[in-house]
Amino acid sequence: MRAWRVHQLGDPQDALRLDQDAPIPKPAADQVLLRVGCSALNFADGLLCRGEYQVKPDLPFSPGLEVSGEVVSGGESVGINAGRRMMGTTFLPAGGLAEYCLVNHRNLYPVPDDMSDEDASALLIPYQTAHIALHRRGNLQPGETLLVHAGAGGVGSAAIQLGKAAGARVIATAGGASKVEICREIGADVVIDYRTEDFVERVHAETDGLGADVIYDPVGGDIFDRSRKAIAWEGRLLVIGFAGGRIADAPTNHPFIRNYSIVGVYIGEYSHRDHDFLLATHADLMRLYSTGKISPLVHTLAPMEEAGEAIGRLLSRRTTGKVVVHVAGEREKV
Ligand SMILES: NC(=O)c1ccc[n+]([C@@H]2O[C@H](COP(=O)([O-])OP(=O)(O)OC[C@H]3O[C@@H](n4cnc5c(N)ncnc54)[C@H](OP(=O)(O)O)[C@@H]3O)[C@@H](O)[C@H]2O)c1
Repeated sequence: MRAWRVHQLGDPQDALRLDQDAPIPKPAADQVLLRVGCSALNFADGLLCRGEYQVKPDLPFSPGLEVSGEVVSGGESVGINAGRRMMGTTFLPAGGLAEYCLVNHRNLYPVPDDMSDEDASALLIPYQTAHIALHRRGNLQPGETLLVHAGAGGVGSAAIQLGKAAGARVIATAGGASKVEICREIGADVVIDYRTEDFVERVHAETDGLGADVIYDPVGGDIFDRSRKAIAWEGRLLVIGFAGGRIADAPTNHPFIRNYSIVGVYIGEYSHRDHDFLLATHADLMRLYSTGKISPLVHTLAPMEEAGEAIGRLLSRRTTGKVVVHVAGEREKV
Protein backbone atom coordinates (compact mmCIF):
# COMPACT_ATOMS: atom_id res chain seq x y z
CA MET A 1 0.00 0.00 0.00
CA ARG A 2 1.00 3.66 -0.30
CA ALA A 3 1.87 5.17 3.06
CA TRP A 4 3.62 8.24 4.38
CA ARG A 5 6.14 6.87 6.87
CA VAL A 6 8.73 8.28 9.23
CA HIS A 7 11.91 6.20 9.05
CA GLN A 8 14.05 8.69 10.95
CA LEU A 9 12.84 11.47 13.24
CA GLY A 10 13.14 15.08 12.08
CA ASP A 11 11.20 18.00 10.61
CA PRO A 12 8.23 16.65 8.62
CA GLN A 13 9.70 17.63 5.21
CA ASP A 14 12.85 15.61 5.96
CA ALA A 15 11.40 12.81 8.08
CA LEU A 16 8.43 11.75 5.96
CA ARG A 17 8.67 9.48 2.91
CA LEU A 18 5.78 8.41 0.68
CA ASP A 19 6.46 4.65 0.43
CA GLN A 20 4.75 2.82 -2.44
CA ASP A 21 4.96 -0.72 -1.07
CA ALA A 22 4.50 -0.50 2.71
CA PRO A 23 2.95 -3.64 4.26
CA ILE A 24 -0.77 -3.53 5.05
CA PRO A 25 -1.07 -3.72 8.86
CA LYS A 26 -2.79 -6.70 10.52
CA PRO A 27 -5.48 -5.96 13.13
CA ALA A 28 -5.17 -7.45 16.63
CA ALA A 29 -8.27 -8.92 18.31
CA ASP A 30 -9.47 -5.53 19.54
CA GLN A 31 -8.77 -3.60 16.32
CA VAL A 32 -10.26 -3.05 12.89
CA LEU A 33 -8.44 -2.58 9.63
CA LEU A 34 -9.83 0.52 7.93
CA ARG A 35 -9.45 1.50 4.28
CA VAL A 36 -8.78 5.20 4.72
CA GLY A 37 -10.91 7.71 2.82
CA CYS A 38 -9.81 10.95 4.50
CA SER A 39 -7.24 11.70 7.15
CA ALA A 40 -7.32 15.03 9.03
CA LEU A 41 -4.03 16.54 10.15
CA ASN A 42 -3.25 17.72 13.66
CA PHE A 43 -0.41 19.75 15.16
CA ALA A 44 0.58 16.52 16.90
CA ASP A 45 1.45 14.91 13.52
CA GLY A 46 4.33 17.35 13.18
CA LEU A 47 5.45 16.73 16.75
CA LEU A 48 5.34 12.96 16.10
CA CYS A 49 7.66 13.37 13.10
CA ARG A 50 10.12 15.27 15.27
CA GLY A 51 9.85 12.81 18.16
CA GLU A 52 8.48 15.61 20.38
CA TYR A 53 4.99 14.17 21.04
CA GLN A 54 4.08 12.40 24.29
CA VAL A 55 3.51 9.17 22.30
CA LYS A 56 6.66 7.82 20.59
CA PRO A 57 5.81 4.99 18.16
CA ASP A 58 8.44 2.55 16.91
CA LEU A 59 10.03 3.42 13.56
CA PRO A 60 8.93 3.28 10.82
CA PHE A 61 5.46 4.65 11.55
CA SER A 62 2.69 6.42 9.67
CA PRO A 63 1.36 9.58 11.32
CA GLY A 64 -2.29 10.57 10.85
CA LEU A 65 -4.32 10.48 14.05
CA GLU A 66 -7.92 10.83 12.88
CA VAL A 67 -9.56 9.25 9.88
CA SER A 68 -12.75 8.27 8.15
CA GLY A 69 -13.01 5.19 5.96
CA GLU A 70 -14.48 1.79 5.36
CA VAL A 71 -14.07 -1.28 7.55
CA VAL A 72 -12.10 -4.04 5.83
CA SER A 73 -11.84 -6.61 8.64
CA GLY A 74 -11.73 -7.04 12.40
CA GLY A 75 -15.12 -5.61 13.32
CA GLU A 76 -17.12 -8.87 13.50
CA SER A 77 -16.68 -9.37 17.28
CA VAL A 78 -18.22 -5.94 17.97
CA GLY A 79 -20.95 -6.20 15.33
CA ILE A 80 -19.34 -3.96 12.70
CA ASN A 81 -19.58 -5.43 9.21
CA ALA A 82 -16.99 -5.01 6.49
CA GLY A 83 -17.82 -2.07 4.26
CA ARG A 84 -19.35 0.08 7.03
CA ARG A 85 -18.35 3.77 7.04
CA MET A 86 -16.60 4.61 10.29
CA MET A 87 -14.51 7.38 11.81
CA GLY A 88 -11.85 6.88 14.43
CA THR A 89 -8.60 7.83 16.05
CA THR A 90 -5.82 5.58 14.86
CA PHE A 91 -3.54 3.06 16.55
CA LEU A 92 0.09 4.00 15.91
CA PRO A 93 2.39 2.97 14.27
CA ALA A 94 -0.40 2.21 11.74
CA GLY A 95 -1.68 5.81 11.43
CA GLY A 96 -4.03 7.28 8.87
CA LEU A 97 -1.66 8.82 6.31
CA ALA A 98 -1.72 5.46 4.58
CA GLU A 99 -4.22 3.58 2.44
CA TYR A 100 -4.98 1.26 5.37
CA CYS A 101 -4.73 1.96 9.09
CA LEU A 102 -5.64 0.35 12.42
CA VAL A 103 -8.23 1.64 14.89
CA ASN A 104 -8.97 0.17 18.31
CA HIS A 105 -12.67 -0.75 18.79
CA ARG A 106 -12.88 1.81 21.61
CA ASN A 107 -11.88 4.66 19.31
CA LEU A 108 -14.26 3.82 16.46
CA TYR A 109 -17.66 5.41 15.70
CA PRO A 110 -20.17 5.01 12.85
CA VAL A 111 -20.36 7.90 10.39
CA PRO A 112 -23.91 9.28 10.14
CA ASP A 113 -25.40 9.12 6.61
CA ASP A 114 -25.55 12.90 6.29
CA MET A 115 -21.88 13.45 7.24
CA SER A 116 -19.21 13.73 4.55
CA ASP A 117 -15.95 11.76 4.78
CA GLU A 118 -14.11 15.08 5.14
CA ASP A 119 -16.16 16.21 8.13
CA ALA A 120 -16.02 12.74 9.69
CA SER A 121 -12.22 12.70 9.58
CA ALA A 122 -11.94 16.20 11.07
CA LEU A 123 -14.41 15.97 13.91
CA LEU A 124 -13.05 13.67 16.58
CA ILE A 125 -9.86 15.15 18.00
CA PRO A 126 -10.71 18.88 17.98
CA TYR A 127 -14.28 18.52 19.20
CA GLN A 128 -13.63 15.80 21.78
CA THR A 129 -10.80 17.95 23.11
CA ALA A 130 -12.88 21.11 23.27
CA HIS A 131 -15.96 19.35 24.69
CA ILE A 132 -14.04 17.59 27.45
CA ALA A 133 -12.08 20.78 28.18
CA LEU A 134 -15.04 23.14 28.39
CA HIS A 135 -17.52 20.87 30.13
CA ARG A 136 -15.91 18.05 32.13
CA ARG A 137 -12.73 19.90 33.02
CA GLY A 138 -13.76 23.56 32.76
CA ASN A 139 -17.37 23.38 34.01
CA LEU A 140 -18.34 26.20 31.63
CA GLN A 141 -21.74 27.68 32.47
CA PRO A 142 -24.21 29.59 30.26
CA GLY A 143 -23.53 33.33 30.51
CA GLU A 144 -19.89 32.91 31.49
CA THR A 145 -17.08 34.47 29.47
CA LEU A 146 -14.83 32.05 27.60
CA LEU A 147 -11.50 33.20 26.16
CA VAL A 148 -10.22 30.93 23.35
CA HIS A 149 -6.63 31.36 22.15
CA ALA A 150 -5.60 30.52 18.56
CA GLY A 151 -9.29 30.51 17.65
CA ALA A 152 -8.73 29.95 13.91
CA GLY A 153 -6.81 26.69 14.49
CA GLY A 154 -8.16 23.15 14.77
CA VAL A 155 -8.88 22.81 18.49
CA GLY A 156 -9.44 26.58 18.85
CA SER A 157 -12.22 26.77 16.25
CA ALA A 158 -13.94 23.77 17.86
CA ALA A 159 -13.85 25.55 21.24
CA ILE A 160 -15.42 28.72 19.80
CA GLN A 161 -18.32 26.72 18.33
CA LEU A 162 -18.82 24.60 21.45
CA GLY A 163 -18.56 27.66 23.70
CA LYS A 164 -21.32 29.40 21.77
CA ALA A 165 -23.41 26.21 21.78
CA ALA A 166 -23.05 26.15 25.59
CA GLY A 167 -24.39 29.70 25.89
CA ALA A 168 -21.10 31.37 26.82
CA ARG A 169 -19.88 34.76 25.62
CA VAL A 170 -16.83 33.92 23.55
CA ILE A 171 -13.75 36.11 23.16
CA ALA A 172 -11.19 34.69 20.73
CA THR A 173 -7.61 35.59 19.93
CA ALA A 174 -5.80 34.93 16.66
CA GLY A 175 -2.66 36.06 14.82
CA GLY A 176 -3.44 38.27 11.82
CA ALA A 177 -6.42 39.81 10.05
CA SER A 178 -7.57 36.77 8.06
CA LYS A 179 -7.54 34.54 11.15
CA VAL A 180 -9.45 37.23 13.08
CA GLU A 181 -12.09 37.19 10.34
CA ILE A 182 -12.42 33.39 10.58
CA CYS A 183 -13.07 33.58 14.32
CA ARG A 184 -15.80 36.14 13.68
CA GLU A 185 -17.40 34.02 10.97
CA ILE A 186 -17.69 31.01 13.26
CA GLY A 187 -19.40 33.01 15.97
CA ALA A 188 -16.91 34.58 18.39
CA ASP A 189 -18.49 37.64 20.01
CA VAL A 190 -15.20 39.53 20.33
CA VAL A 191 -11.97 38.80 18.44
CA ILE A 192 -8.54 40.13 19.31
CA ASP A 193 -5.52 40.09 17.01
CA TYR A 194 -2.98 39.22 19.67
CA ARG A 195 -0.12 40.19 17.40
CA THR A 196 -1.17 43.84 17.44
CA GLU A 197 -3.25 44.28 20.59
CA ASP A 198 -2.68 43.36 24.23
CA PHE A 199 -5.30 40.70 24.87
CA VAL A 200 -5.17 41.08 28.66
CA GLU A 201 -6.18 44.75 28.54
CA ARG A 202 -8.90 44.04 26.03
CA VAL A 203 -10.37 41.13 28.03
CA HIS A 204 -10.55 43.37 31.10
CA ALA A 205 -12.19 46.11 29.02
CA GLU A 206 -14.75 43.64 27.65
CA THR A 207 -15.60 42.15 31.07
CA ASP A 208 -15.82 45.26 33.29
CA GLY A 209 -12.45 44.36 34.73
CA LEU A 210 -13.57 40.92 35.91
CA GLY A 211 -11.58 38.77 33.47
CA ALA A 212 -12.59 35.58 31.64
CA ASP A 213 -14.24 32.77 33.62
CA VAL A 214 -12.70 30.07 31.46
CA ILE A 215 -9.55 30.38 29.34
CA TYR A 216 -8.76 27.72 26.72
CA ASP A 217 -5.05 27.75 25.90
CA PRO A 218 -3.58 25.57 23.11
CA VAL A 219 -0.53 27.85 22.77
CA GLY A 220 1.24 27.95 26.16
CA GLY A 221 4.45 29.92 26.83
CA ASP A 222 3.95 33.69 26.92
CA ILE A 223 0.25 33.31 26.10
CA PHE A 224 -0.23 31.15 29.19
CA ASP A 225 1.78 33.60 31.34
CA ARG A 226 -0.33 36.55 30.15
CA SER A 227 -3.56 34.55 30.52
CA ARG A 228 -2.99 34.36 34.28
CA LYS A 229 -3.56 38.14 34.27
CA ALA A 230 -6.82 37.80 32.34
CA ILE A 231 -8.53 35.12 34.42
CA ALA A 232 -11.54 35.89 36.65
CA TRP A 233 -11.92 35.11 40.35
CA GLU A 234 -12.67 31.37 40.58
CA GLY A 235 -11.82 31.04 36.89
CA ARG A 236 -10.49 27.91 35.16
CA LEU A 237 -7.36 28.20 33.03
CA LEU A 238 -7.33 25.17 30.73
CA VAL A 239 -3.95 23.84 29.58
CA ILE A 240 -4.68 22.38 26.12
CA GLY A 241 -1.30 22.40 24.38
CA PHE A 242 1.99 24.08 23.64
CA ALA A 243 1.84 25.16 20.00
CA GLY A 244 4.07 28.14 20.87
CA GLY A 245 6.84 25.70 21.81
CA ARG A 246 7.48 26.69 25.45
CA ILE A 247 5.92 24.94 28.44
CA ALA A 248 5.18 27.64 31.00
CA ASP A 249 5.71 27.56 34.77
CA ALA A 250 3.20 29.12 37.14
CA PRO A 251 4.03 30.50 40.62
CA THR A 252 1.52 28.76 42.89
CA ASN A 253 0.87 31.88 45.00
CA HIS A 254 -0.93 33.44 42.03
CA PRO A 255 -3.83 30.92 41.72
CA PHE A 256 -3.85 30.85 45.53
CA ILE A 257 -4.46 34.59 45.93
CA ARG A 258 -6.78 34.93 42.94
CA ASN A 259 -8.71 31.71 43.63
CA TYR A 260 -8.47 30.29 40.12
CA SER A 261 -7.61 26.79 38.91
CA ILE A 262 -5.04 25.66 36.36
CA VAL A 263 -6.60 22.59 34.79
CA GLY A 264 -4.83 20.04 32.61
CA VAL A 265 -6.69 18.55 29.65
CA TYR A 266 -5.37 15.52 27.77
CA ILE A 267 -7.92 13.47 25.86
CA GLY A 268 -5.64 10.56 24.95
CA GLU A 269 -6.42 8.64 28.15
CA TYR A 270 -10.22 8.71 28.14
CA SER A 271 -10.84 5.77 25.80
CA HIS A 272 -9.38 3.29 28.28
CA ARG A 273 -9.96 5.17 31.57
CA ASP A 274 -13.60 6.14 31.01
CA HIS A 275 -14.97 4.78 27.76
CA ASP A 276 -18.64 5.28 28.70
CA PHE A 277 -17.97 8.97 29.26
CA LEU A 278 -16.27 9.23 25.85
CA LEU A 279 -19.29 7.57 24.20
CA ALA A 280 -21.61 10.07 25.91
CA THR A 281 -19.39 12.94 24.74
CA HIS A 282 -19.48 11.59 21.21
CA ALA A 283 -23.28 11.27 21.30
CA ASP A 284 -23.54 14.91 22.35
CA LEU A 285 -21.18 15.96 19.54
CA MET A 286 -23.30 14.06 17.00
CA ARG A 287 -26.41 15.84 18.35
CA LEU A 288 -24.69 19.22 18.01
CA TYR A 289 -23.53 18.37 14.48
CA SER A 290 -26.97 17.22 13.34
CA THR A 291 -28.54 20.43 14.64
CA GLY A 292 -25.95 22.61 12.90
CA LYS A 293 -24.35 23.91 16.12
CA ILE A 294 -20.91 22.58 15.21
CA SER A 295 -19.27 22.05 11.85
CA PRO A 296 -15.58 21.24 11.34
CA LEU A 297 -13.70 24.07 9.72
CA VAL A 298 -12.25 22.13 6.80
CA HIS A 299 -10.26 24.83 5.01
CA THR A 300 -7.76 22.78 3.02
CA LEU A 301 -8.25 19.58 1.05
CA ALA A 302 -4.90 18.08 0.11
CA PRO A 303 -4.14 15.12 -2.14
CA MET A 304 -2.15 12.25 -0.59
CA GLU A 305 1.07 13.41 -2.31
CA GLU A 306 0.96 16.78 -0.50
CA ALA A 307 0.43 15.51 3.03
CA GLY A 308 4.08 15.81 4.07
CA GLU A 309 4.33 19.42 2.98
CA ALA A 310 0.96 20.20 4.61
CA ILE A 311 2.20 18.99 8.00
CA GLY A 312 5.13 21.41 7.65
CA ARG A 313 2.71 24.28 6.94
CA LEU A 314 0.61 23.35 9.96
CA LEU A 315 3.62 23.41 12.27
CA SER A 316 4.65 26.84 11.01
CA ARG A 317 1.30 28.51 11.63
CA ARG A 318 0.36 28.75 7.94
CA THR A 319 -2.94 26.84 8.06
CA THR A 320 -6.39 27.70 9.35
CA GLY A 321 -9.09 25.31 10.51
CA LYS A 322 -8.44 21.70 9.55
CA VAL A 323 -6.32 20.29 6.74
CA VAL A 324 -7.90 17.10 5.36
CA VAL A 325 -5.92 14.72 3.18
CA HIS A 326 -7.75 12.64 0.56
CA VAL A 327 -6.04 9.30 0.96
CA ALA A 328 -8.30 6.89 -0.95
CA GLY A 329 -6.46 5.42 -3.89
CA GLU A 330 -6.49 2.20 -5.89
CA ARG A 331 -7.88 -0.77 -3.99
CA GLU A 332 -5.55 -3.64 -3.25
CA LYS A 333 -6.52 -7.18 -2.34
CA VAL A 334 -6.08 -7.61 1.44
N1 LIG B 1 -5.05 18.46 25.16
C1 LIG B 1 -5.29 17.60 24.18
O1 LIG B 1 -5.72 16.47 24.41
C2 LIG B 1 -5.02 18.08 22.78
C3 LIG B 1 -5.73 17.55 21.69
C4 LIG B 1 -5.48 18.07 20.41
C5 LIG B 1 -4.51 19.09 20.24
N2 LIG B 1 -3.82 19.54 21.33
C6 LIG B 1 -2.80 20.59 21.21
O2 LIG B 1 -3.40 21.81 20.81
C7 LIG B 1 -2.47 22.61 20.09
C8 LIG B 1 -3.09 23.06 18.78
O3 LIG B 1 -3.35 21.92 17.95
P1 LIG B 1 -4.13 22.07 16.56
O4 LIG B 1 -4.10 20.71 15.94
O5 LIG B 1 -5.40 22.78 16.77
O6 LIG B 1 -3.09 23.00 15.74
P2 LIG B 1 -3.36 24.21 14.73
O7 LIG B 1 -4.62 24.03 14.00
O8 LIG B 1 -2.10 24.33 13.92
O9 LIG B 1 -3.45 25.48 15.67
C9 LIG B 1 -2.33 25.93 16.35
C10 LIG B 1 -2.32 27.43 16.36
O10 LIG B 1 -1.52 27.87 17.45
C11 LIG B 1 -1.09 29.17 17.20
N3 LIG B 1 0.33 29.35 17.50
C12 LIG B 1 0.83 30.24 18.38
N4 LIG B 1 2.15 30.20 18.42
C13 LIG B 1 2.53 29.26 17.53
C14 LIG B 1 3.79 28.78 17.10
N5 LIG B 1 4.96 29.24 17.62
N6 LIG B 1 3.84 27.81 16.15
C15 LIG B 1 2.71 27.31 15.64
N7 LIG B 1 1.47 27.74 16.01
C16 LIG B 1 1.38 28.70 16.94
C17 LIG B 1 -1.37 29.47 15.70
O11 LIG B 1 -2.50 30.33 15.63
P3 LIG B 1 -2.26 31.94 15.56
O12 LIG B 1 -1.41 32.19 14.36
O13 LIG B 1 -3.64 32.47 15.46
O14 LIG B 1 -1.56 32.30 16.84
C18 LIG B 1 -1.73 28.11 15.15
O15 LIG B 1 -2.60 28.20 14.05
C19 LIG B 1 -1.22 21.72 19.89
O16 LIG B 1 -0.28 22.06 20.88
C20 LIG B 1 -1.75 20.32 20.12
O17 LIG B 1 -0.76 19.42 20.53
C21 LIG B 1 -4.06 19.06 22.57
